Amino acid sequence: MDITLESPLDMHLHLREGDTLDLTVPLTADHFAGAVIMPNLVAPVDSLNNLRKYRQAIESYCHGKNFRPYMTLFFKNYSRQELEECREHILGIKLYPAGITTQSEAGVSDFSTIEKTLEDMQELNIPLLVHGESNGFVLDREREFLEVYRSLASRFPDLHIIMEHITTADTVQLLDEFDNLSATVTLHHLMITLDDVIGDLLRPDLFCKPVAKTPRDREALRQAVFSGHPKLMFGSDSAPHPRHKKECIGCAAGVFSAPVALPLLAQIFEDEGCLELLQGFVSANACRRYDISPPAKQILLTQSPWQVPHYYKNVSPFFAGQTLRWSINSSFS
Ligand code: NCD
Ligand code: ZN
Repeated sequence: MDITLESPLDMHLHLREGDTLDLTVPLTADHFAGAVIMPNLVAPVDSLNNLRKYRQAIESYCHGKNFRPYMTLFFKNYSRQELEECREHILGIKLYPAGITTQSEAGVSDFSTIEKTLEDMQELNIPLLVHGESNGFVLDREREFLEVYRSLASRFPDLHIIMEHITTADTVQLLDEFDNLSATVTLHHLMITLDDVIGDLLRPDLFCKPVAKTPRDREALRQAVFSGHPKLMFGSDSAPHPRHKKECIGCAAGVFSAPVALPLLAQIFEDEGCLELLQGFVSANACRRYDISPPAKQILLTQSPWQVPHYYKNVSPFFAGQTLRWSINSSFS
């Protein structure tokens, strides 16, 4: 059996910078029509000038691939004028609580100081993408952040707020409380729980932020995604780290899932008997929620097994060494 996906999108992606783009850009640009590019570089992408340079660097690796990088700025307090200038160049602004994840030290430490920027974003129709974790106990971080989401969603009812990479049953519920909330869901949070990370031998390749949660949480995510929840969008949060940063004391957080994202999504949707809902999850829901029209691009997936390499350059991918049932056969525009 084959399936054709129309303009699939990855709504949360880390491409990194410099030479790493040579690895990351083609992997995603071959499989997707577009992706939302996260701004947490070593020096965060926090000006129009840096954003332009970063987009040009990305585009220099996607020739002929009909791929649109949807750029984001790193949240800080921007003036009205800066926001007006940036508006047409960005999909949204990504907010990180300070120090909560990889390269987020310059994030927000006091939420009471950001009102003016949020008001301007609301007026200018610039979406707010949020890494929603407190600095509490690791398993409670997302739940503790729900109050912040509630407060933002109710005080800025016309601000489109995207709860990134959600992992808990409570967050799934919150989605239905406010019209202006959407969410991305990763592949790995649909597949693994904390047991897979630390329940047997420690798995650095599966360690990420937010950490995978309980079977009940995973079930709630799966239930929502596999019933075609219209506010849930695929965002891989593919976040490559080189081997020496993963296989060491002080392992970096991030799962590198870009090479396997679509084949594994096809597999889990097929296993649940709902392959017909995959198109909505990987494209239609995002197009509707963000009001975007990605480049026309068709991706043909076929049932032909392949073995995932153990490494792509020096990065170990999700499902390394395992055999997947679905392959990407071709893409055509
Ligand atoms: C991401 C990274 O490495 O940039 N890591 C992760 O575990 N997901 C940052 C992030 O999205 O939290
Ligand atoms: Zn991320």
